[in-house]
Amino acid sequence: MSLQLNLDIQSFLSEAWQRQPRLIRGAFTHFNDLVEPEILAGLALEEGVDSRVIQNDNGTWQVSHGPFESYDEFGEDGWTLLVQSVNEWIPEVQQLIAPFRFLPDWRIDDVMISFATENGGVGPHLDQYDVFIIQGGGTRHWQVGERVNNATEFCPHPDLKQLKDSFEPIIDAVLEPGDMLYIPAGCPHNGVALEPSLNYSVGFRAPNTAELAAAVADSLSQLEVPLPRYRDAEAKSYGQPFAVSTAQLNHVREFLLSSLAQTDLSHAMLLVMSQSKRPLPQVEGLLQAEELAQMLEETAMLIVRTPGARILIGPNNMLYANGEAWPLTDNTQAFAEAIAELWDDQPLATLAPLLQHQESMVLCCDLVNASVLDIVVQQD
Ligand code: SIN
Ligand code: CO
Repeated sequence: MSLQLNLDIQSFLSEAWQRQPRLIRGAFTHFNDLVEPEILAGLALEEGVDSRVIQNDNGTWQVSHGPFESYDEFGEDGWTLLVQSVNEWIPEVQQLIAPFRFLPDWRIDDVMISFATENGGVGPHLDQYDVFIIQGGGTRHWQVGERVNNATEFCPHPDLKQLKDSFEPIIDAVLEPGDMLYIPAGCPHNGVALEPSLNYSVGFRAPNTAELAAAVADSLSQLEVPLPRYRDAEAKSYGQPFAVSTAQLNHVREFLLSSLAQTDLSHAMLLVMSQSKRPLPQVEGLLQAEELAQMLEETAMLIVRTPGARILIGPNNMLYANGEAWPLTDNTQAFAEAIAELWDDQPLATLAPLLQHQESMVLCCDLVNASVLDIVVQQD
C-alpha cells in the first residue's frame, strides 16, 4: 500500500522547503495510523530502541529514557512518549517516507513517532533539522513561528532544551488526523495534545560542518587516499618555540583548505552519504548466485530494502550503500537503478529480467550479504 501525499511539490520546493513553515490540511486523505499506541509503548520496552518520556507536571519538566518497564508512574496526562527510528523497527512505518522521496534519499534521517497524553508536549523549542509532522489519531494544538536567529534556549531539565522567550506564531492550528506541518530547521514550535494523540515526524538530517568534515575525513583515512602532508613555510627563523604567529596559523589554514580543494572528495562523500543511521542487522550466512537463481524460480519470494538502508548512485557510475561502493557496468546498471528506486517490497521474480547477467546476480548477492537488501518468503 502506498500513501498519497496531497502537496503541490513544485510550489512547496520553491516557496517553503528550508524557508517557511507550512500547514498542509488533509496532506494524507483518510490517514490510518501505522502503529497502535500500545505497539509503540511496547517497542519502547525493548533494549536498543531510542525512546524518551517527557513529562510536564505544572511547569516542572522531567525526562526519562527508555527502555521502560511500565508507564504507570507517568499517570493519566501531561506526558509524551517519543520513539526514534520507528521505521527501522516496524517496517510498515517505512512507507511513510516514500511520499517524501521528492527530496534526496540521503537526507532522510528517520521517522520518530510520539504518543502524547492529554496536555502532553515537549514545550516550545527549535530543532536543527527540517521535519514533516503528520497528525495521526487524536488532535494536537500547534504553534509555529518564523525562523529566529539568536533565540535564547534554556534547559528546564538537563536533557531538554526549550525556548526561554515566547514566539509569534504564524501557524496556530489544531491538527486533525492526516494534517501535516512542515517545520524548517530553526523555526520555533510547540505542540500540545488536546487528547491522546499520535504524531509522526519525518526528519531530515543536516550535518554541520564539523560533523560532515569529521565523517569525510574518517572515510578518507580509511580509503588510504594519498594526501598532501603539512610542511612549514620557508623561514630564516621560526621565532619563539612556544609562540604560534598569525602567519603560521594562516599557513596551516591555507594548507587545510588548499589540500581539501585539490583532493577528489566525491567518493569519500558518497560513502558517508550512504551510511545508515544505525548499523544494519547482521546477516546469517552468505547468499551465493546459485541459491539466488533458485529463489528467482520461486513465486513466493519478495525482495525487500532493509529499513534504514540508503542506496545511492553517484555520478561516477558507482552504487553506494551502507558505506560501501560497487562499480556499475552495462550489465548491472539497470538492476542497480531498480534497487535504488525500490521502496515497497516487490516480488523477486519481477527483477528476473534485470538479473540475467552473472554480474548483476553477484551484485544482488553482495547487497543481500551487506544487509542492504533482504529476500524473504511472502506471507499471506
Ligand atoms: C512530538 O512529536 O511530540 C514533538 C515533535 C517536535 O516538536 O519536534
Ligand atoms: Co520539534
